Parts: sequence; structure tokens; C-alpha cells
Amino acid sequence: MKFFVDTAEINEIAELNDLGMVDGVTTNPSLIMKSGRDILEVTKEIAELVDGPVSAEVVALEADAMIAEGRKLAAIADNIAVKVPLTWAGLKACNVLSNDGFMVNVTLCFSANQALLAAKAGATFISPFIGRLDDINLDGLELIADIRTIYDNYGYDTQILAASIRTVNHAFECARIGSDVMTAPPKVIKAMASHPLTDKGLADFMADWEKTGQKIL
Ligand code: E4P
Repeated sequence: MKFFVDTAEINEIAELNDLGMVDGVTTNPSLIMKSGRDILEVTKEIAELVDGPVSAEVVALEADAMIAEGRKLAAIADNIAVKVPLTWAGLKACNVLSNDGFMVNVTLCFSANQALLAAKAGATFISPFIGRLDDINLDGLELIADIRTIYDNYGYDTQILAASIRTVNHAFECARIGSDVMTAPPKVIKAMASHPLTDKGLADFMADWEKTGQKIL
């Protein structure tokens, strides 16, 4: 499963990128707002830092305006994926921008039917939001599994980009189901390394090593 990092914070991306953990980056208007940076400037910086796709989201609501904005965002770098919302206008923009040869990430997906439409419109990525479904007592992971089944039934190339990942369990289940990509905040990716038995085992080994009185270096 590919790992995208869901942030516009350069330092956080760089830290994970140095470990080889970053296959791409996703941003959205809320993350740009949080970064306090200019969208064109910060997106360019991220796209230069990482090799994989960097999603930059349009904010227009009409198809023609989305297409114009999408072309402007795509001009930032070759690895930009234009992010459009899963509305009828967004699907139109997806179709035009993917025919232009740009990567398109269709975002704010909350149903398998929406994901089917995005695949037919030529999306490179579909972003189903797990956490936001869980927030309203629905099953976000079930949506990932349903989309996996539908895409496999018909051999769609659109990659499932599991988004709105909030927990390490979301990450594990996405990998088990066979999501192509997950995009997660840095803190979730880092938390995947933690296990209390690892911490306890290490503390025990250190205590016993101390008792030997030996030194390696
Ligand atoms: C990614 O593309 C999404 O914008 C992001 O994962 C949304 O996450 P949130 O629901 O935690 O805001």
C-alpha cells in the first residue's frame, strides 16, 4: 500500500520523506489554511521535495472554473494531481482534466456509487473519507471494501486513496482490504511504529544489558 502524507507542513513531510515513507502528499483548503502559506508557493515546495503525486485542490464550484483552476494548479509541477470534489461539476472537470493528461484525485467521496462515477469519469484517484463516515456512525472501512470489490469486478484503473484516516486501525484495515493508497496525518503514520510490548521488551533488554557490565562501543 502506498503512503501519502495528509499535510501541507513541509517539515513533517521532509521528516517522513527522509525515511522513504512518502509516496505522495495530499492537501486540501483546510490544510493550506492551517499551514498559513500561499497555496501556489507551498504546493510548489512540496512537489519539489517528493517524487510522487501531490494533490492540490480546486476551490471553484462550477465545472469551467474548476477546469481553469485545475490547469493552473497542474502547471506548478509534473507531479501535481488536481483534486476536485465529487459533485456533478467535479466529475465533468475530472473528465476534461484527465483527458488533458493530468492526474485527477476526486475527493469527498462518501458512497460506492460516487466512486463508480469517478472511475467512469477517468479519475486517477478516488478519495473515500473513512473518519468522517465513522463520525456520523457509519462504517468508513466498509466503503473501502465495497469500492475495492466494484473496481475489481470491472477492472477500473482508478486507485483507491483511503482518506480521513484517524487511527492506526484505519491504516491496518485499509492495507488488509487492499486499498491502493492511504493518506494519513504524520502522527498516525508515526503511531504505526508503536507497540507497548516493543517498549517493554526494549526496557527489559536494556536492564539486563546493564547488568552484564559490557560495552559494545
Ligand atoms: C485527504 O485528501 C483529505 O482531505 C483528508 O484526509 C481529510 O481528513 P479529515 O477528515 O481528517 O479532515
